[in-house]
Amino acid sequence: MAKSWKKYLLWFAQEHIEFRNAEIESLLSLFKIEMRYAQKPQSKEPFWIVEFSSEGDAQLLTSRSVSLRNCMELWGHEKSVDLLHNSLRKKCEIFAPYFSPNKSFKIEVETYCKHFTQQEKVNKLETFNYLPIEGQVRLNNPDTCLQYIEYYGIIPNDPPELPHDVFFGKCVAYGLRQLMKKLSLKTRKFIGNTSMDPQLSLLMANQAKVKNGDIILDPFVGSGSLLVAAAEFGGYVFGSDIDYLMLHGKTKPSRIRQQKRASDESVRANMQQYNLEHKYLDVLINDFAMVFWRDSFEFDAIITDPPYGIRESTEKVGTEKPNYTVSEEHLATHIPAKIEYGIPSIYKDLIIFASKHLKVGGRLVCWFPVLRDDYTVNCLPKHPCLKLLANSEQPLSKVTSRRLLTYEKTKHPSVDELSLEGVTIQDFREKYFLLREETRKEKRHKEAAIRKENWDKYIKNKQNCAE
Ligand SMILES: C[S@@+](CC[C@H](N)C(=O)[O-])C[C@H]1O[C@@H](n2cnc3c(N)ncnc32)[C@H](O)[C@@H]1O
Repeated sequence: MAKSWKKYLLWFAQEHIEFRNAEIESLLSLFKIEMRYAQKPQSKEPFWIVEFSSEGDAQLLTSRSVSLRNCMELWGHEKSVDLLHNSLRKKCEIFAPYFSPNKSFKIEVETYCKHFTQQEKVNKLETFNYLPIEGQVRLNNPDTCLQYIEYYGIIPNDPPELPHDVFFGKCVAYGLRQLMKKLSLKTRKFIGNTSMDPQLSLLMANQAKVKNGDIILDPFVGSGSLLVAAAEFGGYVFGSDIDYLMLHGKTKPSRIRQQKRASDESVRANMQQYNLEHKYLDVLINDFAMVFWRDSFEFDAIITDPPYGIRESTEKVGTEKPNYTVSEEHLATHIPAKIEYGIPSIYKDLIIFASKHLKVGGRLVCWFPVLRDDYTVNCLPKHPCLKLLANSEQPLSKVTSRRLLTYEKTKHPSVDELSLEGVTIQDFREKYFLLREETRKEKRHKEAAIRKENWDKYIKNKQNCAE
């Protein structure tokens, strides 16, 4: 039987716009959903007009998305309010099944980027009184939720007199925006200085296509934010980190007003806080440069944020001293020395590890820091067994950004592909520190010039007064 396609409006939150595509593409692939574009999406606009062959597909996609606010089956879309009413009047009978006396309903009115009072919104709502609705109004959980949206563009300070677009339809699903509040770092039991915010963590888990029962690893786990997100989507989560104090909740507290960490702060405590303990495998202290996994062990996904060497050091266990040995009597209490573990080595180890320990089809989702001016796609880590599927930028400052990379394992590596001899990965830190020093010098010079100018003014004033 031929599929019958219907139009839907996907309405996004205007946050992390760069990540939309990668998230939606990943979810379409996860649920094997076919989606067609009815209109080419404009990169900055908060909506896409698309087609699905079933309402179930639209619901499945939306209810797992972090970028989406909601999705409506599009009954009308015009460039003016009058045109919308004219077109809806002509097809009232199509909506009849939703308007019967035994169906409760509500109509939501939204005006995007232009403020209207509640009374003005009620007036807009009343213009739909020609719809043959017979059911009762119910604001909470109605059988049918209708939505009317007036879209005034994306420049809040200067909205046009009339909307650019108007939409009307039946809401079919809401996205996961409420999860951001539930998982907020503000109320999380255990956080660190580099804890990943919940929205980005959830986006990463979606891009990794985490599903119920998957086994997920974060080898630079820190406070475990990425584990929380992956567990929220049903993954069994495991983490490792070189920092003993971090994993034992003994580092300096990250909250300004907190003097001392509570005795029970830990990754496990976070899992308990969100009722996800049953998805928690464990965390353990491990230097990522020293892999301890059995060769044959495979993960469904690796989701991670390695250190960039800016807010935390990049180190691995080792020593510069030649022929260094520890005597038998000191072995038990010996704390190993650490040496520099530069970005090129970290990322090379990471892609080799992923090529070996991911299932074929499994995903590596990780951040990679770059200098914005120097960035080209060629500077990203590459591996013959990993296909780069998505690469979205999050600016961190004028000069730096980090890119969220999504790779999928396409085949098992050969022996050569497990060493990647001769492959080098760019280290952004050398130039970063140089640039930072230059910016600081420039700032110091400017401040000195201002101080001198103020002093000269003060002396001149004094002289004037004396005369
Ligand atoms: C950017 S942080 C990760 C933060 C984490 N995503 C969170 O939400 O808290 C990077 C982590 O890598 C860890 N790390 C640094 N060098 C490492 C190494 N050689 N092996 C394993 N972990 C390491 C650091 O201790 C730090 O916790």
